[in-house]
Amino acid sequence: MIVLGIDIGGSGIKGAPVDLVGGRLATERLRLPTPDPATPKAIAETVAEIADHFAWQGPIGCGLPAAVRQGIVCTAANIDAEWIGTDVNALFQHVLGTTVTVLNDADAAGLAEMRFGAGQNQFGTLMVITIGTGLGTALFRDQVLFPNTELGHILLNGKKAEQFASGAVRKREHLSYETWAGRLDVYLKRLEELFWPDLFILGGGISKKHDKFFPYLSVKTRTVPAQLRNEAGIVGAALAAQNKL
Ligand code: BGC
Repeated sequence: MIVLGIDIGGSGIKGAPVDLVGGRLATERLRLPTPDPATPKAIAETVAEIADHFAWQGPIGCGLPAAVRQGIVCTAANIDAEWIGTDVNALFQHVLGTTVTVLNDADAAGLAEMRFGAGQNQFGTLMVITIGTGLGTALFRDQVLFPNTELGHILLNGKKAEQFASGAVRKREHLSYETWAGRLDVYLKRLEELFWPDLFILGGGISKKHDKFFPYLSVKTRTVPAQLRNEAGIVGAALAAQNKL
């Protein structure tokens, strides 16, 4: 079973056909820059460009950095505010001429980690955190997703956590891994005291450099790097589309 998975991020939109038996990309991915401004129409056109690039005719799944409730986009932290209230199913149907399964990007990454990565056969309360332009969260209880958690937006000292400890903040403020990991640790401890998870899985592009910052984390909850790294969002979006079929 091959499904086209697309991951819409704050800086890039990445897509590839995904082999859902093996849980890996079937061909090399295509990455296009996120249009600026990242309006619904501009993003839908970029998604269409990716589908065209692969001459795609089959099902498509797409992760969006927003809470998506019954097809309606509810938040827009790192995309244009015009997204709020957009009927994403109608938009993609209009621009691509086909239905697209759309879900929150971190939820997509989480689904992929549960099926093929660090969350396999793990039960209890699991939290997948994607570290990138923002901080995305996916909450699971016994492998079942509780969708649309926006826990990158909890306040730490009056600031949204993602404005304090995201990957983009690390780069923007030229923080050393040690300093930045200290901030991430504060965030994880806050989540710990609110949710008491059994496991944190840390994903996003930075997860491939986990050896640079894991040694500085002191949160008590078991914490592991994501295994699908930056591809989890693409694989999980494809999985979500498959689940709909
Ligand atoms: C958004 C989330 C998203 C996360 C990671 C946050 O700013 O509100 O919906 O999952 O960024 O992209």
